[in-house]
Amino acid sequence: MTNILCIGAGYVGGSTMPILASHCPEDRFVIVDINEARIAAWQSDQLPIYEPGLDEIVLQTRGKNLFFSTEIDRHIAEAEIIFVSVNTPTKTFGRGAGRAADLQYWEKTARQILQNSTTSKIVVEKSTLPVRTAEAMERILNSNGNGLHFDVLSNPEFLAEGTAIRDMQNPDRVLIGGRETESGRKAVGKLVELYARWIPRERIITTNLWSSELSKLVANAFLAQRISSINSISALCEKTEADISEVANAIGRDDRIGHRFLQASVGFGGSCFKKDILNLVYLCDHYGLPEVARYWEQVVLMNEYQEARFAANMVASMFNTVAGKRIALFGAAFKANTSDTRESPALEVCRSLLEEHANVVITDPHAMENAAEDLKELAGRVTFESDPYAASKNAHAIAILTEWKQYAQLDYERIYHAMAKPAFLFDGRNLLDPKKLYEIGFNVYPIGKPPLTRLSSPAFTPA
Ligand code: NAD
Ligand code: UGA
Repeated sequence: MTNILCIGAGYVGGSTMPILASHCPEDRFVIVDINEARIAAWQSDQLPIYEPGLDEIVLQTRGKNLFFSTEIDRHIAEAEIIFVSVNTPTKTFGRGAGRAADLQYWEKTARQILQNSTTSKIVVEKSTLPVRTAEAMERILNSNGNGLHFDVLSNPEFLAEGTAIRDMQNPDRVLIGGRETESGRKAVGKLVELYARWIPRERIITTNLWSSELSKLVANAFLAQRISSINSISALCEKTEADISEVANAIGRDDRIGHRFLQASVGFGGSCFKKDILNLVYLCDHYGLPEVARYWEQVVLMNEYQEARFAANMVASMFNTVAGKRIALFGAAFKANTSDTRESPALEVCRSLLEEHANVVITDPHAMENAAEDLKELAGRVTFESDPYAASKNAHAIAILTEWKQYAQLDYERIYHAMAKPAFLFDGRNLLDPKKLYEIGFNVYPIGKPPLTRLSSPAFTPA
């Protein structure tokens, strides 16, 4: 039996460890966190995150070989392998503010491991970190002076929220970076064995530490770049009567381009894309590569443009004013199948509309609590309504901001009849059939497609 600890019971720790525990029944897994409420929630029937399929796996393993605890020191002392999945947000102060990763939680964890260790250990970076962080980690840990040895490995996580369980059960690849020393190779081997319980060996890639750390930032940068690329073209489509879905299909049929991650949208959100690209930008500047830094920075700027463009288009289409108008936002989560609202474009659109004094009502099947927390500085200016029919009643407009399947199944005839007229529908996810909505009576504004409207201002004005 191996004692395995995970420090950080957030999205990553909380969804990866139960799966590892389910495949390694003879090993003992403990997940610890400084947040007592979060640990209590993991121990209850109401898990702190919504992730399809997670409840079942936690129920299967909890109390058997998976445990949640706040006794960090004790569990560090007992562990042979420690995964660290604490948060690494963007720094908000001092040097690198707004771009560099804030490594304070990370460093505190390293020191805590050092203070509480009486045996040598393998420490695994699961959080997303700037390239060469493992060097600092090794320096802290191996400064112990009592003969203990720590092998630091990088094992970045590639799961996406909403599909975390599927991604973990059947990953495209698992990446493990380590030192090319005897002890480093042994440590890598141990982690490979753990994953090999259910993942074919050819999908487990081993590299040096720096390639592994950097690959995580680069993977997110490439994924986000595709979204910014298609979103930039959606703006051009709206000017030219080209249709972004047709363009995405036409280019995606080229195997070299591929069809995934070409869904135009109101913008990408989530806790990681923006933070990781800004971190990459910071690193490029730090290493004296300003041209490379500006190239990647544009991915984030394009995303901000898309969010702002969507909100501005709403205001412009509604006769240049939304003041006092009820606007229903369908969706607050940054994507479907998650309760996560971090960096959600829905909240950005909400803030822009509130600046224009709109009367905003938000509905979402799973993310209202998080949205209310994120918007607490605007409490009283935005309302929450769990029923989309009630949210859209008497509204001048609906904006689809999260691609929840249930929003495609609503009775839009019924919704239309209860709305103020003319009724507007802005589809920030191209989730609905614009023609059907137009036939019902809506003025419809998809992303990257000509609007379908009975209002006089023509959408398409050739030069
Ligand atoms: P999170 O904020 O949901 O969870 C982090 C947890 O760490 C929190 O519960 C926090 O209380 C805890 N923590 C912080 N300092 C601690 C300490 N000293 N001791 C014990 N616990 C501590 O973050 P997350 O979304 O799970 O992300 C964690 C890391 O994984 C980040 O680096 C992120 O970039 C990366 N990542 C996230 C995802 C994702 O889908 N969310 C996917 C891949 C990688
Ligand atoms: C992303 C990556 O996909 C994961 O591989 C990575 O592990 C994770 O970040 C991380 O490091 O945190 P996630 O942010 O959970 O996962 O979700 P994605 O499916 O990547 O979606 C991100 C955003 O892009 C969402 O707002 C989504 O709606 C948007 N998106 C995605 C589009 O607008 N169009 C697309 O075609 C795809």
